[in-house]
Amino acid sequence: MQTYPGEQLEVLLAHSEIKHRVENLGKRITMDYDGKPLLLVGILKGSFIFMADLIRSIDLPVAIDFMAMSSYGAATKSSGVVRILKDLEQSVDGRHVLVVEDIVDTGLTLNYIFGHMRSRGAASVKICSLLDKPSRRQVAVPLHYKGFEIPDEFVVGYGLDVDERYRNLPDVCRLIKE
Ligand code: IMP
Repeated sequence: MQTYPGEQLEVLLAHSEIKHRVENLGKRITMDYDGKPLLLVGILKGSFIFMADLIRSIDLPVAIDFMAMSSYGAATKSSGVVRILKDLEQSVDGRHVLVVEDIVDTGLTLNYIFGHMRSRGAASVKICSLLDKPSRRQVAVPLHYKGFEIPDEFVVGYGLDVDERYRNLPDVCRLIKE
């Protein structure tokens, strides 16, 4: 993959490792939600590739929806302010909701979404995140399904970006700025 001037990439999680883990998560979700109609809510844009792979590893009838929250933009640190940019199209009232996120960093985004779903009457709300950066947590969030714990480094690829770059990388890579 071509990098941009002043940036280097180093593979942290290879695609084969991610694929294996996502399939395992899908199997667990399939067992846990047997008999419960499931609504998967992907948080745009970073979760779109994870969501696409995860849903194909879940052997149950599922509905999907998406939300978009304010992002970092060109920055690599959170501003701490969470805003809804795109809301759900479906009602969550009485439904079993599984929120699908790319990465939990400070926890501010998921903390907000978790409260939001509960206040809208979801029967249950659980969270599934591909990545977890626990060292930077500001708010505790219940992570029911987690792909990988990673160190405090900014990562891109497999849907994750910096300023819209590198989402199409098959691996999750460390972004090294020179
Ligand atoms: P939080 O609210 O601080 O937990 O941030 C969650 C959001 O920040 C994620 O959904 C990502 O969009 C973004 N984010 C946090 N860490 C990274 C990273 O290392 N690479 C790319 N995006 C990140």
